Amino acid sequence: MKSVGIVFGGKSPEHEISIISAETIVTNLDRNAFTPALFPIDRKGRLFSGSGGFEFLKSGKMLDISKVAFDELRKMDVIFPVLHGPFGEDGTIQGLLETMGIPYVGCGVESSALNMHKGLFRDVFSAKGIAQPQYRYFLENEGDKALAEIGETLPLPVFVKPCRGGSSIGISRVETLNELKNAVETAFQYDDAVIVEEGIDITEELEVAVMGKPGELIVAGPGKLIAGDTFYSYDDKYVNNQTRFQIPAEDLSAEIVSRIRELAVAAFTVTNCFGLARVDFLFNRKTGRLVLNEINTMPGFTAISMYPKLMMTTGMSFSELVSRLLELAFQRSR
Ligand SMILES: Nc1ncnc2c1ncn2[C@@H]1O[C@H](COP(=O)(O)OP(=O)(O)OP(=O)(O)O)[C@@H](O)[C@H]1O
Ligand SMILES: [Mg+2]
Repeated sequence: MKSVGIVFGGKSPEHEISIISAETIVTNLDRNAFTPALFPIDRKGRLFSGSGGFEFLKSGKMLDISKVAFDELRKMDVIFPVLHGPFGEDGTIQGLLETMGIPYVGCGVESSALNMHKGLFRDVFSAKGIAQPQYRYFLENEGDKALAEIGETLPLPVFVKPCRGGSSIGISRVETLNELKNAVETAFQYDDAVIVEEGIDITEELEVAVMGKPGELIVAGPGKLIAGDTFYSYDDKYVNNQTRFQIPAEDLSAEIVSRIRELAVAAFTVTNCFGLARVDFLFNRKTGRLVLNEINTMPGFTAISMYPKLMMTTGMSFSELVSRLLELAFQRSR
C-alpha cells in the first residue's frame, strides 16, 4: 500500500477547480493500492494537512486540519500536485518536491515553468517549426517600442495576454489599434511580461490528451470546444455555460486527427513533458489552418474535464488513469 499526498487549492484563480479535480481524484483512487492524504493550500498559499482538507477549503472549517504540513508531506510515498495555473502548474511546487526528494505526478520543473510562459514556449515551438500564431512578447519597459512594432507587423485582430496567466484572466481580443494600449495595460496588471498574438480566425478549438513517458505515449482525442463568447473567455469558462463540447470530436477527417496527434506528441516532447499534458490547438476547418495554442501541464481533472474524458475514450477507467499517473511518478523518480 502506497501513501498518496493530494496537494490542491492554492493561490491561483483556479483554486475552486483544483478542489473539484482533487475530490474527483480521491474518489476514484484505487484503495487496494493507495491511501490518500489531503494537503490543502489556502488562497494565501499556506499549506495544511488533514482529512478535513476539502471542508477546510470550501467552508473554512478547521476540523482535522493542521499547519505542520511539511513533516507530513515528507512521509508520503508520492504526491499528486492537483494545482492548476500559477503557483502549482508552473514548476514551483515541482521544485519544492524535487528538493524534498518526493516522487510526484506530472511534468518536471522546467517543462512546467516553460509551458506556463506563453512567450518562452512560443520561442521554443517556433525554433522547432511547430505552427503557431505570429506573436511578440515584451516587458513593461519595452512597451512603447513593442507597441509601435506590433502596429506595423501583426495583423488585426490580436490577442493580448499576460504571459503567465490562466483561465483567460487579463486577456483581451483587440480589433483596432486604438484599443491596444489599454489591453496591454490590463495584461500588465497580471504579469510583468505580456504577449500579443495574431488573432486566428477559428471555427473550433481542439484539445489532445497525452499520457506517458518519452517513447511510450498514449494519445487521446482531439476533443472539440466551440466558445459561446467571441473567444473562450473567463465568463465562457465559468459563468455563462455557453461553450459547446464534443468529446471526442466526431467530424474530423482521419488525416486531421493524425496530424493533430502527431503535433501534440511533438509539442509534448520538445518541451520535455512527462506523465501528462493537454495540448490545445486553434483550428479553422474551412481553411485547414491548425496552430498550437498552448500546453497545460496539469489540466482540469474533474469528472467532466476534457483530459480525463478523452483518456477514457481509449478504454481506461478514471481509476486506472490515476493509478497509471502515479506509477509513472515512481518510474521517473527511480
Ligand atoms: N491567437 C489566438 N487566436 C484566436 N483565439 C485565441 C488566440 N489566443 C487565445 N485565443 C482564445 O482565447 C482563449 C484563452 O487563451 P489562452 O488559452 O491562451 O488563455 P489561458 O488563460 O492560458 O487559458 P488556460 O486557462 O486554458 O490556460 C483560447 O481558448 C481561445 O478561445
Ligand atoms: Mg487555454
